[in-house]
Amino acid sequence: MRVVVLISGSGTNLQAIIDGQQDGSLPIKIAAVISNKPDVKGLQRAETANIATAVVDHKQFESRESFDAALQLEIDKHQPQLVVLAGFMRILTPAFTAHYAGKMLNIHPSLLPKYQGLHTHQRAIDAGDSIHGVTVHFVTAELDGGPAAIQAQVKIDSNDTADTLAAKVQVQEHIIYPLAVKWFAEGRLHMQANQAWLDGKAL
Ligand code: GRF
Repeated sequence: MRVVVLISGSGTNLQAIIDGQQDGSLPIKIAAVISNKPDVKGLQRAETANIATAVVDHKQFESRESFDAALQLEIDKHQPQLVVLAGFMRILTPAFTAHYAGKMLNIHPSLLPKYQGLHTHQRAIDAGDSIHGVTVHFVTAELDGGPAAIQAQVKIDSNDTADTLAAKVQVQEHIIYPLAVKWFAEGRLHMQANQAWLDGKAL
């Protein structure tokens, strides 16, 4: 299955998916890695793995619509069956999300629907939560609002900071994102009627 991965930064989730491609546990070919920021570490990771890279720099565009249109052209050159947002830090337009409906996954560092948006670890600590986590979900027009495919939980300890909590969450990210990609590639996971389905069961 052909996959395009979108990134904005360090690309540790990208790395987990590259590792799965390379060790044969993921039945995918990463056709390209596209970043909205030049010179990020994730682009180096892709180059090291001999994966095609491209930069579509959002700063070169006057509107979200024109950026998304250029990004869509770049993605569609590679004819992916799945688009994976891996730390891709841009808000997407409804036309863009509609174009990839049911074919685009995102990872968000909270137990959605809690803590959509930014600074999720600090917000969970500030709220006094004892459990935090991460969600892989299908992308819809609603920011961090599409149906969840898988979640993992972590315990918040009394001495956790946003950084220590982020590190614990990332360990889980690198487990559940490749798993969700595997399920999708195997035809076990899909979205229908704004609902995620695994093996024919509504999640
Ligand atoms: C992850 O924490 C992810 O949940 C969030 O952005 C971060 C990306 O990290 N959306 P990386 O670039 O995959 O290392």
